[in-house]
Amino acid sequence: MLRGQKVVIIGGSSGIGLESAKQIIAQGAEVIIASRSEDKLRNAKEQLGVSATTFTLDITQEQQVQSFFDKVGQFDHLVVSAAETFGGPFLQTDTTQARQLFENKFWGQYYAAKYGAPKITPNGSITLFSGVVAYKSMNGSSILGAVNAAVSNLGKTLALELAPLRVNIVSPGIIDTPSRSNMLEETRNHFYASVANKLPVKRIGRTEDVAKSVLYLIQNSFVTGTVLHVEGGHILA
Ligand SMILES: NC(=O)c1ccc[n+]([C@@H]2O[C@H](COP(=O)([O-])OP(=O)(O)OC[C@H]3O[C@@H](n4cnc5c(N)ncnc54)[C@H](OP(=O)(O)O)[C@@H]3O)[C@@H](O)[C@H]2O)c1
Repeated sequence: MLRGQKVVIIGGSSGIGLESAKQIIAQGAEVIIASRSEDKLRNAKEQLGVSATTFTLDITQEQQVQSFFDKVGQFDHLVVSAAETFGGPFLQTDTTQARQLFENKFWGQYYAAKYGAPKITPNGSITLFSGVVAYKSMNGSSILGAVNAAVSNLGKTLALELAPLRVNIVSPGIIDTPSRSNMLEETRNHFYASVANKLPVKRIGRTEDVAKSVLYLIQNSFVTGTVLHVEGGHILA
């Protein structure tokens, strides 16, 4: 149980972060969710109820992240699922876009860890987000793979430096979340079916699959510096 504990989820207004918020609240904790879109936050708050507080925050803005944690004060666990990612062929990807991917997914998590850690209670934890393309090379994911690998390595070293605070990393495979809502439905379904067909588990992931892992990393006080792969055997496929 997480009764009486306070959990901050940056990226908690959608997908894996939102489902994690639901499961964490079900364990008795209070959650603070933060992201950029007020609409998404409002919608999430309607689903989460009185145990959730919302904050508007752009994780790529260092000052905003710092003052966010100053406002939040002391808390117990930090989960950083915020990211906006894309793929594309290396030679055709604009350098500015490639840098944006680092700004969003790497530097965002760096700022969150840097300014969040001093506010976390000693028995608390940080959970960062990497992704399968760091561990299995795929066409079109050269930059995202590099970003995810950087997050995993940052997290592992922070587990040493920030101890006794625990730091872990979740590495999801292909999960059905609103992150692909800009794809045509038919293209998305085709993509999901082709991935599912290759995986040992013969399905793509659900937000619940990953949220359970977030909960495990928060609750198991003997786990730190771990990259938890939640990907249906994708690395083997
Ligand atoms: N879904 C997959 O297949 C998959 C695979 C591998 C790894 N992952 C990783 O898993 C994590 C969660 O992904 P998801 O699929 O759950 O994504 P999602 O449904 O798109 O949710 C992303 C969340 O991040 C927030 N966000 C994005 N940019 C932000 C910013 N600059 N500042 C603050 N908040 C920001 C979004 O809200 P706003 O738009 O309101 O800011 C939203 O709440 C990400 O790290 C993703 O890379 C996902």
